[in-house]
Amino acid sequence: MSLISNFTKIFRDEYGFDTIAIRREALQYLNPGEPPTDILVLDVGTGSGWMAILAAEQGQRVISIDINPECLLRAKHRAEQALMGSVIRPLFVCADALRIPFPDNFFDAAISFDAVHHLFDCPCPAGIKEMIQVCKTHRDIIVAGLNKNGAAAVRTVHDRAGLKHEENRCDVEKLEMMLHDIGLHSTRRDTSFVTIFHAHQQCTMMKNSGQPRLNEPNLFGRIFYCRFGYLT
Ligand SMILES: C[S@@+](CC[C@H](N)C(=O)[O-])C[C@H]1O[C@@H](n2cnc3c(N)ncnc32)[C@H](O)[C@@H]1O
Repeated sequence: MSLISNFTKIFRDEYGFDTIAIRREALQYLNPGEPPTDILVLDVGTGSGWMAILAAEQGQRVISIDINPECLLRAKHRAEQALMGSVIRPLFVCADALRIPFPDNFFDAAISFDAVHHLFDCPCPAGIKEMIQVCKTHRDIIVAGLNKNGAAAVRTVHDRAGLKHEENRCDVEKLEMMLHDIGLHSTRRDTSFVTIFHAHQQCTMMKNSGQPRLNEPNLFGRIFYCRFGYLT
C-alpha cells in the first residue's frame, strides 16, 4: 500500500489542497510548549490514520478510534510503514465516537479531523461531549471540518471515482455554534478547504457528573485485540 493515496495526490495536484499539511497545521494546536511525549492524544474517526501518524511523528502518544474495522486495518498498516523504526506507535481501537470506551479524564487532548459530518448529529453534539468527557479539564479539543470549498472538492473527486461521500450534516458554521452552545470557547482558523476549531474545556462543570459512563467491561480486551490480533 502506498503511503500517499490517489485521493491525496488528486487533491494536491488538481486543487492545491495539501491534506497532509493541513493535518499538520491542526496538530500544531496540541499543547504547544509542552514536551510532546508528555501527552496522550485521542484521535476520533481516524479513517486514513494520517492524524495518528503525524502526531506520532511529532512524538505524541496517540489512541485512534474509528467505527469501521476496515479503515482501522488500513490505517494500522499505513502507520506501520510510515513509522517503521519508531518506538512510538499509535494504538488503533474499534469504537464508536458516541460511546468512547475510555474513562473520564483519560486523555490530554482530543482531535477530530474531517469526521464531524459523520459524528455529530445536529443539534445534539454528543460526539463533542464525549471528547470533553474523556479529556482532562483545561486541555485541548481540536475539531477540523471541511468548509464548503473542501466539501465540494471531496464530492467531485469521490463522484468521479464512483464513491458516495456522506452528505455533510454539520457544516462549519453549525459546528462553531455547537461548540459555543456547549460552553466551549474556540478559536477558529479558516483555510481554503478546512476550518480548524481549537477549544479548551473550561472547568469540570462541563463534564457530565452523573453515573460513570464507562461501562465497557472489555476495554482492555479491545485494546489487546487491536494490537495483537483482531485487526491484523
Ligand atoms: C472522512 S473519514 C476520516 C478522516 C480522518 N480523520 C483523516 O484525517 O483522514 C471519517 C471517519 O469517521 C469514521 N466514523 C464515522 N462514524 C463514526 C463513529 N460513530 N465513531 C467513530 N468513527 C466514525 C468513519 O469510519 C471514517 O473513517
